Amino acid sequence: MHAALVTSFDRPPQYAAVDDPVATSADEVVVDVRAAGLHPRVRSGASGSHYASSTALPLIPGVDGTGVLADGQRVYFAALDSAHGTMADLTVIRRRAYLPLPDTADEVTVAAAVNPAMSSWVPLRRRAALQPGQRVLVLGATGSAGQMAVQIAKRLGAGWVAAAGRDAERLAALPTLGADGVISLAGSDSQIAAEIQKNAADTEVVIDYLWGAPLERVLPAILAARSDPGQPLTWLHIGAMGGPEASLPSVALRSHNLTILGSGQGAVSTAEFVTEIAALIDEIAAGALTIDALPVPLSDVEAVWDSPVSRTRRVVFQP
Ligand SMILES: NC(=O)c1ccc[n+]([C@@H]2O[C@H](COP(=O)([O-])OP(=O)(O)OC[C@H]3O[C@@H](n4cnc5c(N)ncnc54)[C@H](OP(=O)(O)O)[C@@H]3O)[C@@H](O)[C@H]2O)c1
Repeated sequence: MHAALVTSFDRPPQYAAVDDPVATSADEVVVDVRAAGLHPRVRSGASGSHYASSTALPLIPGVDGTGVLADGQRVYFAALDSAHGTMADLTVIRRRAYLPLPDTADEVTVAAAVNPAMSSWVPLRRRAALQPGQRVLVLGATGSAGQMAVQIAKRLGAGWVAAAGRDAERLAALPTLGADGVISLAGSDSQIAAEIQKNAADTEVVIDYLWGAPLERVLPAILAARSDPGQPLTWLHIGAMGGPEASLPSVALRSHNLTILGSGQGAVSTAEFVTEIAALIDEIAAGALTIDALPVPLSDVEAVWDSPVSRTRRVVFQP
């Protein structure tokens, strides 16, 4: 068979012939892969920089996908481990690591959408328990996960969703996905503070894909825009596109009712993820969520991996 193959952490995977995988126990099953998304998690695994990834080479990248089992059942599945990924003609997975696809589900859309969508779906249902009518701010809303978070927060009952990002064109499109107000992160600190005052005063839940320097700039403005410092503010850390570390003034935690939580592999149990992803697949199959997916032949993996379009649309490789 053919697969994307990472042989060095400092270059893109190459399309290469490799041995067919085999199930080595009754707990494993072979999947005929139909589509696998190029998510940031996949990139960090392929560059050896993800906290939960293998550092042994060579490896096949890919954390999830859609495919068909030997009995013809269409499934969404997660990779066996970080060395035996999903960007291949065939892969082996654990029997408990797949979910059936509804008949209406499009294989490319599901492969593109589950990873970015679960980044907000799971914590809004399992970590922060979003209440109907609450005010939400999505920080880093211009990416695939941020665009999903805007839609999902609305779908789960948020009363107001503000979307913050730095790409002007994609920011301007977010109201079509449900954003009630947008905040440009491209301006000065005082411009950001004014836009937060206008569009995100009294925010109750922040869904943060940025961390790093953007958090340091935005947090003081969010706290300053609260009419009651005792009103709960839940900060959900999901991604670190703005940097892996952020300096947090201790006074922020004494002067406001601020709670910081994370969501990801480890912070949420596998059982919770499985339950929530099944519900999420139903939403995606029903057409409730929009994602800008770009299907690409897996044979083009090396050329497309670092291409500009792969940073603005969710590339999905098809074997
Ligand atoms: N914990 C979880 O369960 C989970 C699940 C899925 C994803 N994630 C994480 O969530 C993050 C976003 O994922 P994604 O799928 O949305 O990625 P994506 O589609 O590649 O989008 C990333 C976005 O981040 C923006 N960005 C990068 N640096 C920025 C900065 N300094 N200031 C403002 N915006 C910045 C980019 O905007 P520009 O165009 O302006 O560069 C882009 O819109 C990643 O860190 C990913 O690993 C976490």
